[in-house]
Amino acid sequence: MHKTIDIQSAVSYIENLTSKKPTIGIILGSGLGAFADTLQNAVHIPYDDIPYFAKSAAVGHANELVIGDIAGKTIVAMKGRFHYYEGFSLDQVTFPVRVMKMLGVEKLIITNACGAVNTNFAPGDLMLITDHINLTANNPLMGPNNPELGVRFLDVSEVYSKKLRGIVSDVAKGLGITLQQGVYAWWTGPTYETPAEIRMIRTLGADAVGMSTVPEALIARHSGVETIGISCLTNMACGILDQPLSHDEVIETAERVKSTFLKLITETIAK
Ligand code: 6GU
Repeated sequence: MHKTIDIQSAVSYIENLTSKKPTIGIILGSGLGAFADTLQNAVHIPYDDIPYFAKSAAVGHANELVIGDIAGKTIVAMKGRFHYYEGFSLDQVTFPVRVMKMLGVEKLIITNACGAVNTNFAPGDLMLITDHINLTANNPLMGPNNPELGVRFLDVSEVYSKKLRGIVSDVAKGLGITLQQGVYAWWTGPTYETPAEIRMIRTLGADAVGMSTVPEALIARHSGVETIGISCLTNMACGILDQPLSHDEVIETAERVKSTFLKLITETIAK
């Protein structure tokens, strides 16, 4: 359970470093951190320095909060996130979302690099998350509920805001960017899936699979923060092509679509 005083302590620390009041948050996935470098008048705050933040060690991630301006808005970006597979508790994984909420964030964009399960998708495609499937048998809201932060039994019929999804779709159309839509399955990792597991996941109705996003989206929903999820499909999931998966491929593809991704995000924030 997240304690209100812990969140307040992190928020006070941040507010002592900047008078900026972000209203939009973004979590940047593997290889997608470059977006944070496009913010103007940016303040960089290492996670290590923020009270109650965990310390991430994932490759391809910096570990800092960047608060700055873009497209006429003040936003807070997480350059690097905490993953369940690193051994963090889901409280640690999702704590930054509570902090963003208390900083004044009303809308959150969650991004990730993930594998394509739908065989009609191709590496390098972007996918708007319409819904998710939690395959981990864990939940960030497990344990006592802090009623100051949200309800005990959460409705999750619309985790990813329909209204905001409409905006992203329109923006993609306007920019001529192909934007797939689909269901994201959350797998703990750190192993990728076996070919049999990918067949199972496809049968269950997922279009993509990855190791993040769902815990943060659930806590955002619990906090009353409107959320959208955008995936970069960096590779086909296991068993679709006759080749092994590699983290290098994930980073390479994310790098390749970086400029398209930045355009989509920036224009979405503007709208
Ligand atoms: Cl194929 N699976 C998972 N769980 N995460 C990924 C991935 C696959 N490709 C990139 N990230």
